[in-house]
Amino acid sequence: LRDKYLTAVAETSDEGALEEIRLAALGKKGEISLKMRELGKMSPEERQSTGKALNLLKDEIDAALRAKKAALADAALDARLREEWLDVTLPGRPRRAGTIHPVSQVMDEVTAIFADMGFAVAEGPQIEDDWHNFDALNIAPEHPARQEHDTFFMHRAEDDPRPPHVLRTHTSPVQIRAMLDQGAPIRVIAPGRVYRMDMDQTHTPMFHQIEGMAIGRDISMANLKWVLEEFFSAYFGIKVKTRFRASHFPFTEPSAEVDIQCSWVDGQLRIGEGDGWMEVLGSGMMHPKVLQSGGIDPSEWQGFAFGMGIDRIAMLKYGIPDLRAFFESDLRWLKHYGFNP
Ligand code: PHE
Repeated sequence: LRDKYLTAVAETSDEGALEEIRLAALGKKGEISLKMRELGKMSPEERQSTGKALNLLKDEIDAALRAKKAALADAALDARLREEWLDVTLPGRPRRAGTIHPVSQVMDEVTAIFADMGFAVAEGPQIEDDWHNFDALNIAPEHPARQEHDTFFMHRAEDDPRPPHVLRTHTSPVQIRAMLDQGAPIRVIAPGRVYRMDMDQTHTPMFHQIEGMAIGRDISMANLKWVLEEFFSAYFGIKVKTRFRASHFPFTEPSAEVDIQCSWVDGQLRIGEGDGWMEVLGSGMMHPKVLQSGGIDPSEWQGFAFGMGIDRIAMLKYGIPDLRAFFESDLRWLKHYGFNP
Protein backbone atom coordinates (compact mmCIF):
# COMPACT_ATOMS: atom_id res chain seq x y z
CA LEU A 1 0.00 0.00 0.00
CA ARG A 2 2.76 2.36 0.97
CA ASP A 3 4.72 1.77 -2.23
CA LYS A 4 1.63 2.05 -4.33
CA TYR A 5 0.70 5.50 -3.06
CA LEU A 6 4.19 6.95 -2.66
CA THR A 7 5.05 5.90 -6.21
CA ALA A 8 1.84 7.40 -7.51
CA VAL A 9 2.59 10.69 -5.75
CA ALA A 10 6.15 10.72 -7.10
CA GLU A 11 5.00 10.10 -10.66
CA THR A 12 2.26 12.70 -10.71
CA SER A 13 2.89 16.10 -12.18
CA ASP A 14 -0.42 17.84 -11.86
CA GLU A 15 -2.54 19.05 -8.99
CA GLY A 16 -5.78 17.40 -10.08
CA ALA A 17 -4.23 13.92 -10.17
CA LEU A 18 -2.69 14.59 -6.74
CA GLU A 19 -6.10 15.29 -5.32
CA GLU A 20 -7.43 12.04 -6.81
CA ILE A 21 -4.65 10.11 -5.10
CA ARG A 22 -5.46 11.79 -1.80
CA LEU A 23 -9.10 10.77 -2.11
CA ALA A 24 -8.26 7.18 -3.11
CA ALA A 25 -5.98 6.79 -0.08
CA LEU A 26 -7.19 9.13 2.66
CA GLY A 27 -10.66 10.19 1.60
CA LYS A 28 -13.72 9.02 3.54
CA LYS A 29 -14.01 5.97 1.29
CA GLY A 30 -10.25 5.79 0.68
CA GLU A 31 -8.34 2.55 1.00
CA ILE A 32 -6.60 3.53 4.24
CA SER A 33 -9.74 4.91 5.82
CA LEU A 34 -11.52 1.63 5.05
CA LYS A 35 -8.69 -0.33 6.67
CA MET A 36 -8.97 1.91 9.75
CA ARG A 37 -12.61 0.98 10.00
CA GLU A 38 -11.73 -2.69 10.11
CA LEU A 39 -9.66 -2.17 13.30
CA GLY A 40 -12.81 -2.68 15.40
CA LYS A 41 -13.02 -6.31 14.42
CA MET A 42 -9.48 -7.07 15.54
CA SER A 43 -8.09 -8.39 18.82
CA PRO A 44 -6.71 -5.67 21.10
CA GLU A 45 -3.04 -6.55 20.35
CA GLU A 46 -3.61 -6.73 16.66
CA ARG A 47 -5.56 -3.50 16.75
CA GLN A 48 -2.76 -1.68 18.54
CA SER A 49 0.01 -2.64 16.13
CA THR A 50 -2.07 -2.34 12.93
CA GLY A 51 -3.59 0.95 14.06
CA LYS A 52 -0.19 2.39 14.75
CA ALA A 53 1.13 1.24 11.38
CA LEU A 54 -1.89 2.65 9.57
CA ASN A 55 -1.55 6.00 11.33
CA LEU A 56 2.11 6.20 10.38
CA LEU A 57 1.28 5.30 6.80
CA LYS A 58 -1.48 7.89 6.71
CA ASP A 59 0.89 10.60 7.96
CA GLU A 60 3.56 9.53 5.52
CA ILE A 61 1.24 9.68 2.50
CA ASP A 62 -0.21 12.96 3.68
CA ALA A 63 3.27 14.46 4.02
CA ALA A 64 4.25 13.20 0.57
CA LEU A 65 1.12 14.71 -0.94
CA ARG A 66 1.80 18.09 0.69
CA ALA A 67 5.42 18.12 -0.35
CA LYS A 68 4.52 17.27 -3.92
CA LYS A 69 1.83 19.92 -4.00
CA ALA A 70 4.29 22.58 -2.83
CA ALA A 71 6.86 21.40 -5.40
CA LEU A 72 4.30 21.65 -8.20
CA ALA A 73 3.33 25.17 -7.12
CA ASP A 74 7.01 26.19 -7.08
CA ALA A 75 7.53 24.76 -10.54
CA ALA A 76 4.48 26.59 -11.84
CA LEU A 77 5.72 29.87 -10.41
CA ASP A 78 9.17 29.32 -11.95
CA ALA A 79 7.58 28.68 -15.33
CA ARG A 80 5.48 31.81 -15.08
CA LEU A 81 8.45 33.93 -14.11
CA ARG A 82 10.39 32.58 -17.07
CA GLU A 83 7.48 33.36 -19.37
CA GLU A 84 6.74 36.86 -18.11
CA TRP A 85 10.34 37.88 -18.08
CA LEU A 86 10.75 41.50 -19.00
CA ASP A 87 13.89 43.39 -19.88
CA VAL A 88 13.29 46.81 -18.40
CA THR A 89 16.58 48.07 -19.81
CA LEU A 90 15.41 47.78 -23.45
CA PRO A 91 14.77 51.15 -25.11
CA GLY A 92 11.05 51.95 -25.60
CA ARG A 93 9.36 51.52 -28.96
CA PRO A 94 8.29 54.96 -30.16
CA ARG A 95 4.55 55.28 -30.86
CA ARG A 96 3.22 57.74 -33.39
CA ALA A 97 1.20 60.31 -31.49
CA GLY A 98 -1.92 61.86 -33.00
CA THR A 99 -2.46 65.61 -33.09
CA ILE A 100 -5.38 67.90 -32.38
CA HIS A 101 -7.09 68.95 -35.62
CA PRO A 102 -6.66 72.70 -36.26
CA VAL A 103 -10.44 73.17 -36.30
CA SER A 104 -10.81 71.50 -32.89
CA GLN A 105 -7.93 73.59 -31.60
CA VAL A 106 -9.55 76.80 -32.83
CA MET A 107 -12.95 75.77 -31.40
CA ASP A 108 -11.30 75.33 -28.01
CA GLU A 109 -9.44 78.65 -28.24
CA VAL A 110 -12.57 80.53 -29.30
CA THR A 111 -14.65 78.91 -26.57
CA ALA A 112 -12.06 79.84 -23.95
CA ILE A 113 -11.94 83.49 -25.05
CA PHE A 114 -15.73 83.84 -24.92
CA ALA A 115 -15.84 81.98 -21.60
CA ASP A 116 -13.61 84.73 -20.19
CA MET A 117 -16.30 87.22 -21.26
CA GLY A 118 -19.01 85.25 -19.46
CA PHE A 119 -20.43 83.23 -22.38
CA ALA A 120 -21.51 79.65 -21.60
CA VAL A 121 -21.62 76.92 -24.24
CA ALA A 122 -25.03 75.88 -25.62
CA GLU A 123 -25.72 72.95 -27.93
CA GLY A 124 -28.28 71.69 -30.41
CA PRO A 125 -28.69 68.75 -32.81
CA GLN A 126 -27.07 68.64 -36.25
CA ILE A 127 -30.22 67.01 -37.63
CA GLU A 128 -32.62 69.85 -36.90
CA ASP A 129 -36.31 70.32 -37.57
CA ASP A 130 -37.68 72.86 -40.02
CA TRP A 131 -39.09 74.99 -37.27
CA HIS A 132 -35.87 75.55 -35.30
CA ASN A 133 -33.71 75.96 -38.40
CA PHE A 134 -36.05 78.31 -40.29
CA ASP A 135 -39.52 79.31 -39.03
CA ALA A 136 -38.52 80.21 -35.49
CA LEU A 137 -35.78 82.39 -36.97
CA ASN A 138 -38.29 84.33 -39.07
CA ILE A 139 -37.14 82.66 -42.28
CA ALA A 140 -40.31 82.46 -44.39
CA PRO A 141 -41.18 79.27 -46.35
CA GLU A 142 -40.45 81.02 -49.64
CA HIS A 143 -37.03 82.27 -48.50
CA PRO A 144 -34.23 81.22 -50.89
CA ALA A 145 -32.22 79.62 -48.07
CA ARG A 146 -34.96 77.01 -47.77
CA GLN A 147 -34.79 75.91 -51.38
CA GLU A 148 -33.40 72.49 -52.15
CA HIS A 149 -30.19 73.79 -53.72
CA ASP A 150 -28.84 75.04 -50.40
CA THR A 151 -30.27 72.77 -47.73
CA PHE A 152 -29.85 69.06 -47.17
CA PHE A 153 -33.34 67.73 -46.50
CA MET A 154 -33.89 64.40 -44.77
CA HIS A 155 -36.62 62.97 -46.96
CA ARG A 156 -39.56 61.23 -45.37
CA ALA A 157 -41.82 58.50 -46.71
CA GLU A 158 -44.48 59.71 -49.21
CA ASP A 159 -47.32 59.34 -46.73
CA ASP A 160 -45.48 60.83 -43.73
CA PRO A 161 -47.26 64.13 -42.99
CA ARG A 162 -44.55 65.58 -40.71
CA PRO A 163 -42.38 68.42 -42.06
CA PRO A 164 -38.91 67.27 -43.12
CA HIS A 165 -35.87 67.45 -40.90
CA VAL A 166 -32.80 69.16 -42.32
CA LEU A 167 -29.08 69.11 -41.68
CA ARG A 168 -28.86 72.45 -39.90
CA THR A 169 -27.64 75.12 -42.30
CA HIS A 170 -26.31 77.36 -39.51
CA THR A 171 -25.86 77.35 -35.71
CA SER A 172 -28.65 79.94 -35.30
CA PRO A 173 -31.31 77.31 -34.31
CA VAL A 174 -29.31 76.94 -31.08
CA GLN A 175 -30.39 80.53 -30.27
CA ILE A 176 -33.98 79.27 -30.10
CA ARG A 177 -33.12 76.16 -28.09
CA ALA A 178 -31.03 78.12 -25.60
CA MET A 179 -33.75 80.75 -25.09
CA LEU A 180 -36.45 78.11 -24.57
CA ASP A 181 -34.12 76.25 -22.20
CA GLN A 182 -32.77 79.10 -20.12
CA GLY A 183 -34.85 82.23 -20.66
CA ALA A 184 -33.44 85.74 -20.23
CA PRO A 185 -30.99 87.18 -19.37
CA ILE A 186 -28.64 84.87 -21.21
CA ARG A 187 -25.14 84.89 -22.69
CA VAL A 188 -24.14 81.85 -24.76
CA ILE A 189 -22.02 80.69 -27.65
CA ALA A 190 -22.80 77.62 -29.73
CA PRO A 191 -19.93 76.09 -31.70
CA GLY A 192 -20.70 73.21 -34.05
CA ARG A 193 -21.02 71.63 -37.47
CA VAL A 194 -23.33 72.97 -40.15
CA TYR A 195 -24.17 71.78 -43.66
CA ARG A 196 -24.86 73.34 -47.04
CA MET A 197 -24.73 72.04 -50.58
CA ASP A 198 -21.62 73.85 -51.66
CA MET A 199 -18.13 72.82 -52.70
CA ASP A 200 -15.17 74.87 -53.94
CA GLN A 201 -11.91 76.26 -52.59
CA THR A 202 -13.68 78.20 -49.86
CA HIS A 203 -16.78 76.04 -49.34
CA THR A 204 -17.27 72.47 -48.11
CA PRO A 205 -20.67 70.75 -47.63
CA MET A 206 -19.89 70.47 -43.91
CA PHE A 207 -18.23 73.33 -42.09
CA HIS A 208 -18.11 74.86 -38.62
CA GLN A 209 -19.75 77.91 -37.15
CA ILE A 210 -19.86 79.55 -33.80
CA GLU A 211 -23.02 81.35 -32.79
CA GLY A 212 -22.99 84.06 -30.16
CA MET A 213 -26.01 85.50 -28.36
CA ALA A 214 -26.46 87.92 -25.45
CA ILE A 215 -29.87 89.02 -24.17
CA GLY A 216 -30.42 91.58 -21.46
CA ARG A 217 -32.59 94.60 -20.68
CA ASP A 218 -30.34 97.05 -22.52
CA ILE A 219 -27.90 95.04 -24.64
CA SER A 220 -26.96 97.09 -27.70
CA MET A 221 -24.99 97.06 -30.94
CA ALA A 222 -22.19 98.83 -29.02
CA ASN A 223 -21.88 95.80 -26.74
CA LEU A 224 -21.70 93.61 -29.84
CA LYS A 225 -18.89 95.68 -31.33
CA TRP A 226 -16.91 95.64 -28.09
CA VAL A 227 -17.31 91.87 -27.64
CA LEU A 228 -16.21 91.18 -31.21
CA GLU A 229 -13.17 93.49 -31.13
CA GLU A 230 -12.19 92.03 -27.78
CA PHE A 231 -12.57 88.55 -29.22
CA PHE A 232 -10.59 89.12 -32.43
CA SER A 233 -7.82 90.92 -30.57
CA ALA A 234 -7.47 88.03 -28.10
CA TYR A 235 -7.69 85.44 -30.88
CA PHE A 236 -5.11 87.00 -33.22
CA GLY A 237 -2.94 88.36 -30.40
CA ILE A 238 -2.96 91.89 -31.80
CA LYS A 239 -5.44 94.77 -31.54
CA VAL A 240 -7.93 94.18 -34.40
CA LYS A 241 -10.42 96.82 -35.55
CA THR A 242 -13.82 95.79 -36.93
CA ARG A 243 -15.99 97.42 -39.56
CA PHE A 244 -19.76 96.99 -39.57
CA ARG A 245 -21.54 97.05 -42.93
CA ALA A 246 -25.33 97.22 -43.12
CA SER A 247 -26.75 93.91 -44.29
CA HIS A 248 -29.85 91.77 -44.05
CA PHE A 249 -30.72 88.60 -42.16
CA PRO A 250 -34.32 87.58 -41.44
CA PHE A 251 -33.47 86.96 -37.77
CA THR A 252 -31.76 90.26 -36.96
CA GLU A 253 -32.82 93.90 -37.26
CA PRO A 254 -30.71 95.87 -37.84
CA SER A 255 -28.20 93.46 -39.37
CA ALA A 256 -24.53 93.92 -40.05
CA GLU A 257 -21.76 92.05 -41.76
CA VAL A 258 -18.54 92.45 -39.87
CA ASP A 259 -15.09 92.83 -41.43
CA ILE A 260 -11.78 92.71 -39.64
CA GLN A 261 -8.83 94.96 -40.36
CA CYS A 262 -6.08 93.38 -42.48
CA SER A 263 -3.56 93.98 -45.24
CA TRP A 264 -1.35 92.11 -47.66
CA VAL A 265 2.38 92.57 -47.15
CA ASP A 266 4.73 90.79 -49.61
CA GLY A 267 1.97 88.35 -50.53
CA GLN A 268 1.28 87.63 -46.86
CA LEU A 269 -1.99 88.37 -45.14
CA ARG A 270 -1.57 90.42 -41.94
CA ILE A 271 -4.56 90.62 -39.61
CA GLY A 272 -4.90 93.78 -37.50
CA GLU A 273 -2.60 95.83 -39.72
CA GLY A 274 -3.16 98.30 -42.57
CA ASP A 275 -6.35 99.53 -44.14
CA GLY A 276 -7.83 96.46 -45.84
CA TRP A 277 -10.94 94.64 -44.65
CA MET A 278 -12.02 91.03 -44.67
CA GLU A 279 -15.53 89.77 -43.99
CA VAL A 280 -15.69 87.29 -41.12
CA LEU A 281 -19.22 87.12 -39.77
CA GLY A 282 -22.88 88.08 -39.83
CA SER A 283 -24.58 89.73 -36.88
CA GLY A 284 -27.25 92.09 -35.64
CA MET A 285 -29.84 92.87 -32.99
CA MET A 286 -32.16 89.92 -32.49
CA HIS A 287 -35.48 90.29 -34.32
CA PRO A 288 -38.49 90.63 -31.95
CA LYS A 289 -40.11 87.63 -33.64
CA VAL A 290 -37.05 85.52 -32.85
CA LEU A 291 -37.18 86.52 -29.19
CA GLN A 292 -40.86 85.54 -29.20
CA SER A 293 -40.06 82.14 -30.76
CA GLY A 294 -37.72 81.65 -27.82
CA GLY A 295 -40.48 82.54 -25.34
CA ILE A 296 -38.89 85.87 -24.46
CA ASP A 297 -40.89 89.10 -24.32
CA PRO A 298 -39.37 91.62 -26.79
CA SER A 299 -40.92 94.56 -24.94
CA GLU A 300 -38.78 93.69 -21.94
CA TRP A 301 -35.63 92.17 -23.44
CA GLN A 302 -33.28 92.78 -26.34
CA GLY A 303 -30.13 91.10 -27.54
CA PHE A 304 -27.44 90.73 -30.14
CA ALA A 305 -26.50 87.62 -32.10
CA PHE A 306 -23.69 86.75 -34.44
CA GLY A 307 -22.57 83.75 -36.49
CA MET A 308 -19.02 83.23 -37.59
CA GLY A 309 -17.27 80.60 -39.70
CA ILE A 310 -14.68 78.79 -37.59
CA ASP A 311 -12.86 77.18 -40.51
CA ARG A 312 -12.41 80.59 -42.06
CA ILE A 313 -10.81 82.14 -38.98
CA ALA A 314 -8.63 79.03 -38.55
CA MET A 315 -7.39 79.48 -42.14
CA LEU A 316 -6.64 83.14 -41.41
CA LYS A 317 -4.68 82.45 -38.24
CA TYR A 318 -2.64 79.52 -39.52
CA GLY A 319 -2.22 80.58 -43.15
CA ILE A 320 -4.11 77.63 -44.63
CA PRO A 321 -5.05 78.46 -48.24
CA ASP A 322 -7.63 75.77 -49.12
CA LEU A 323 -10.60 74.99 -46.90
CA ARG A 324 -11.01 71.52 -48.38
CA ALA A 325 -7.67 70.42 -46.88
CA PHE A 326 -9.31 70.53 -43.44
CA PHE A 327 -11.48 67.54 -44.27
CA GLU A 328 -9.27 65.40 -46.51
CA SER A 329 -7.62 63.50 -43.63
CA ASP A 330 -4.20 63.67 -45.28
CA LEU A 331 -1.86 62.50 -42.49
CA ARG A 332 1.05 64.62 -43.69
CA TRP A 333 -1.16 67.71 -43.71
CA LEU A 334 -2.58 66.88 -40.28
CA LYS A 335 0.93 66.35 -38.89
CA HIS A 336 2.00 69.72 -40.28
CA TYR A 337 -1.01 71.78 -39.14
CA GLY A 338 -2.12 69.64 -36.17
CA PHE A 339 -1.37 70.54 -32.58
CA ASN A 340 0.48 68.33 -30.15
CA PRO A 341 -1.59 67.97 -27.01
N1 PHE B 1 -26.79 82.42 -39.39
C1 PHE B 1 -26.11 83.36 -40.22
C2 PHE B 1 -25.38 82.60 -41.32
O1 PHE B 1 -25.25 81.41 -41.26
C3 PHE B 1 -25.15 84.20 -39.46
C4 PHE B 1 -25.80 85.08 -38.45
C5 PHE B 1 -25.97 84.63 -37.15
C6 PHE B 1 -26.23 86.36 -38.77
C7 PHE B 1 -26.58 85.43 -36.20
C8 PHE B 1 -26.81 87.18 -37.84
C9 PHE B 1 -27.00 86.73 -36.56
O2 PHE B 1 -24.87 83.17 -42.25
